[in-house]
Amino acid sequence: TMSAPLDASKLKIVKSSTPSTPKPNDQLVFGKTFTDHMLTVEWTKENGWGVPEIKPYGNLSLDPSACVFHYAFELFEGLKAYRSPDNKITMFRPDKNMERMNKSAARICLPTFDSEELIKLMGKLIEQDKHLVPEGQGYSLYVRPTMIGTTPALGVSTPDRAMIFVITSPVGPYYKTGFKAVRLEATDYATRAWPGGVGDKKLGANYAPCILPQLQAAERGYQQNLWLFGPEKNITEVGTMNVFFVFKDNATGKKELVTAPLDGTILEGVTRDSVLTLAREKLDPKEWTISERYYSINEVADRAEKGELVEAFGSGTAAVVSPIKEIGWKGKDIHVPLQPGKQTGPLTENVAQWIANIQYGKEKHGNWSRV
Ligand code: COI
Repeated sequence: TMSAPLDASKLKIVKSSTPSTPKPNDQLVFGKTFTDHMLTVEWTKENGWGVPEIKPYGNLSLDPSACVFHYAFELFEGLKAYRSPDNKITMFRPDKNMERMNKSAARICLPTFDSEELIKLMGKLIEQDKHLVPEGQGYSLYVRPTMIGTTPALGVSTPDRAMIFVITSPVGPYYKTGFKAVRLEATDYATRAWPGGVGDKKLGANYAPCILPQLQAAERGYQQNLWLFGPEKNITEVGTMNVFFVFKDNATGKKELVTAPLDGTILEGVTRDSVLTLAREKLDPKEWTISERYYSINEVADRAEKGELVEAFGSGTAAVVSPIKEIGWKGKDIHVPLQPGKQTGPLTENVAQWIANIQYGKEKHGNWSRV
């Protein structure tokens, strides 16, 4: 038998009979409100991908033995759609999310699919609920594509049934009153990801175990974990985001933007890639080095002591960039400078603006915005 590829042209649409009105922007809390419709498409090993359906948002019905509930056959993505001043709605770099989604699926033996077809289907879903895409800088529609294994059996094996679903959520800026710099606890007693593991894949199973260390850090007054790895105490990520540091060499005056290399333990962030790409395009190489290299909390502590630590920020789809002001390590706080009267460093602020200009259609960057 021929197993059918994912095919957006087979889409069936059942419209909601109770369309909702948009919430005012100031009532949007990240990921709590959803639009009127969702997309689902089922897969079986026998027949491949079935008919994609857009239908009213609602519960899924699954057998309690479905393998997603027992062995974590689950992966997800997060991307955003933006309304530009001329009223076009664009997805930001959806091809990158689809590429990563396929890598996540392959790693846990769930089916892969043609990225372009799911991009078309997400486009149809967004179009269906376009009146719920908020307007204004900082506001967007968060899109959550998800894939689960649905085989109703307790044997631990390759799923022969699966489902993609996509839900969407109108969201506001992560920080309502502009940036708010965060305090991190450098965490070496718990490990987010390890060599040979799956830290570079967007699996739900990577997220649940990170909540307890976050609560423990919170008890000590820190909002997030700065995840360290190995005897060198290398810096890997922050919370659910990639992380960047800026150092300035006292001797040469040259600055370095640093983030960890993609060695299998680091999530291949779309915002991470966007920051690196824009920094390489926009920063003067006579003044700046852009590095993907290993660096440790000890290096950060040493350079802070010498006055060479100048900025640090997290990067992710939800918050875009998240400035860092303090890092708890060995009972002391490492201070990260902020601009006078502001909650960011200068590069952090520029990076946020560069990305926003592209997301809201004020500037064009290759194929990063997809109508
Ligand atoms: C991010 O965008 O930074 C995320 O990791 C999404 C989060 C809601 C899981």
